[in-house]
Formats: sequence, structure tokens, C-alpha cells
Amino acid sequence: MELFTPRLTLREFRDADFSLFRELEAHPATYYYESACPDEPAAQKYLENAQMDALQTPRIRYRFAMTIRPVDSVCGRITLSLMNPSIREWEIGWALHPDWWGRGLATEAAFRVLEFAFHELGVHRVVAFSHAQNTASLRVMQKLGMRQEGLLRETRQWQGGWANEVVYAILEREFIPGPA
Ligand SMILES: CC(C)(COP(=O)(O)OP(=O)(O)OC[C@H]1O[C@@H](n2cnc3c(N)ncnc32)[C@H](O)[C@@H]1OP(=O)(O)O)[C@@H](O)C(=O)NCCC(=O)NCCS
Repeated sequence: MELFTPRLTLREFRDADFSLFRELEAHPATYYYESACPDEPAAQKYLENAQMDALQTPRIRYRFAMTIRPVDSVCGRITLSLMNPSIREWEIGWALHPDWWGRGLATEAAFRVLEFAFHELGVHRVVAFSHAQNTASLRVMQKLGMRQEGLLRETRQWQGGWANEVVYAILEREFIPGPA
């Protein structure tokens, strides 16, 4: 399946995406706020799992490759995963190659994925987790209209110590679609 935004196509991953996807995953800035950077087999596994997810019915995870039209090359990923079926709660997450940061692309992609979640999947709540100091990611959450619901203390091992994590969420009734 594919979703479109003014600048982006969000599509399923393919085998041919491996080298660019690996470039995104291996970039130190992509994983700066995480405890570890995935190695090559982990990136390969991610692509395989992404393609398996696409075959499931009903789907419980969408791992979209972000591409900037008219080029079909992967520059990021955005994921929507079922967290708690009983309350129709899903989790969203994103990463973009640093060459493309600061142009509003992650926000643009995430607005479209939230619209898909709320208007097409009938989702009730979408949550997102982030390292508490990951300002760019927090800013994306805020621009989407998500609200901070919690601060999880020392839930991440980071740079030889502990880091706090924040939880943001948005409800179906709160969602206002972004610019089309
Ligand atoms: C988080 C990420 C996807 C944002 O991508 P992006 O396309 O640059 O995001 P946008 O341009 O849509 O929005 C970023 C916002 O953060 C702001 N921002 C970026 N870095 C910032 C910083 N260091 N301090 C304060 N604000 C910052 C930008 O100014 C922008 O806000 P604005 O529109 O109000 O000016 C990207 O930084 C990334 O891939 N990071 C690495 C992976 C990651 O951390 N993923 C999230 C895991 S929870």
C-alpha cells in the first residue's frame, strides 16, 4: 500500500531498498538517542520483517519507507504498530536520513500516517515514545498535536548511564489533519 503527501510517497519496503536503508540505519545521528545502532544483519531483518508485515491480514504493523517524489529512493522510515487492540491503541515512530532534516518532512509524513490511522483504520489513540532530550522528535510530536502524558524515569540505557523517556499521545477526536 502507498500513502501520499505533498512531497512524499510512503510505501512498502522492497529488497532493493537495502543499501539506502542501511545508510539511514548506520548513520550515527539516526541512532544518537538510542542505546545502540543496529548492525547490518539487523537492518536486513528489519526489511524482511517489513515485507512479512505487509502480507498479514489483518495488519498489525505498517513500516513505511519514506521517499521524496519524483525519486523512489528511501530517505526515512515511519512505522505504525498495534500496541493494545482492546482500546485500539497504536504506536507511531519515525527516522529520517540527516541529509533531509529540518524541512518538515517527518511532520508531513506523520500527519499522513495519523490521518490513515484515525480515518481509515479506526484507531482510538496513537502514542509515541522518545528520549526526553530528543528535541527534534518531541517537536514533531507537538506539531502533530500530540500531548505529553508521561515521563518514564531512567527507562533507557544511554551513553553509559540512564536516560528518561517521554510518552506523547493523541486521541482520534483531537486529530486535525495537516496541510494536504
Ligand atoms: C526526529 C526526526 C525524524 C525529525 O525529522 P525532520 O524532518 O527534521 O523533522 P521536522 O522538520 O518535521 O521537524 C523538526 C522540528 O524540530 C526542530 N528541531 C530540530 N532540531 C532541534 C533542536 N536541536 N532543538 C530544537 N528544535 C529542533 C525543528 O526546528 C522543527 O521544528 P519547527 O518546525 O518548529 O522549526 C529526525 O531528526 C530524525 O530522524 N532523528 C533521528 C531518529 C529519531 O530520533 N527518531 C525518533 C525516535 S523517538
